[in-house]
Amino acid sequence: MSKRLKVWVSRPLFADALARLGQFVEVDAEPVERTHSAQDLRRQLAAVDGAIIGLADRFDATTLAGNDRLKVISNLAVGYNNLDIDALTRAGILACNTPDVLNETTADYAWALLLAAARRVGAAERWLRAGQWQGAMRFDDWLGVDVHGRTLGILGMGRIGQAVARRAGGFDMRVLYHNRHRLPESVECECAARWVDRETLLRQADHLVLVLPYTRENHHIIGAAELARMKRGSVLVNIARGGLVDEAALAASLREGHLAAAGLDVYEDEPVVHPDLLALEQVVLSPHLGSASAGTRRNMAGMAVDNVLAGLGLGPTAGRPPAPINPGVLDARRRGSKA
Ligand code: GLV
Repeated sequence: MSKRLKVWVSRPLFADALARLGQFVEVDAEPVERTHSAQDLRRQLAAVDGAIIGLADRFDATTLAGNDRLKVISNLAVGYNNLDIDALTRAGILACNTPDVLNETTADYAWALLLAAARRVGAAERWLRAGQWQGAMRFDDWLGVDVHGRTLGILGMGRIGQAVARRAGGFDMRVLYHNRHRLPESVECECAARWVDRETLLRQADHLVLVLPYTRENHHIIGAAELARMKRGSVLVNIARGGLVDEAALAASLREGHLAAAGLDVYEDEPVVHPDLLALEQVVLSPHLGSASAGTRRNMAGMAVDNVLAGLGLGPTAGRPPAPINPGVLDARRRGSKA
């Protein structure tokens, strides 16, 4: 019998997903959640043909140096700013992610944060649990910001952004978006959203949701200057990546009362949250769980397994992974050359 290929899974995964993986390959799955150092990753990856990894696992040329065994990295996320795709491609390693299966769940979550931030749900709950609701409450206490009938701004109008936009109809909102590329008219129509330049988006949105990928170019795309251009009393929601926002500048804007509130699921230095944000009651903070519904996380795990198997030429879709990021690697393999 030929030797089975080996796949490392860097974090605990659903047992049924691991069992399916185990039908085709030898599986080395981490039993507990832990942080992997670069050295740890290098050592683990040197001994396997494929890996299913999480966002906290970072891969660059150094992590891959001297590795001539690894063929596929399957990221358990749609965003892949943890991967140096050029380095992977140069090394002939296929990278895959989990797009689409999480669009609707993540869009739901953007709305959960938007509503919670605008209507002060987090702070009010903390106040109630602390036993401070005693006797009559002042009529002008806990006043939030309206969501319905206001202008929703979406920065980054990929499939998650579009799903956020489609939900705005129920709140009778005007939807503006900015994206590098304007969407086809049919999609704009379906989302009832209008393209504007970034400046107009900042100035006109009452609620601004960030849904764009994080790259070197858009590091701190929302900094002090951009926050100052946003409307007084507006709300910022970030479900994309922490590095898009200058967190100290955001905290300052909230402290000064320029922005009314923020809803954040992502942070620049996860799992560390900027202390200035932690100190503010008007920020709703959650630990990067936009895609975390039971059904969606299962679908993501299933897709990550399909990706790694197919990338290794195994399973029902051998050679045709559902979501390759650098498909040129597959073409090069077919031609028998490097990408
Ligand atoms: C989560 O942040 C993801 O990119 O899937």
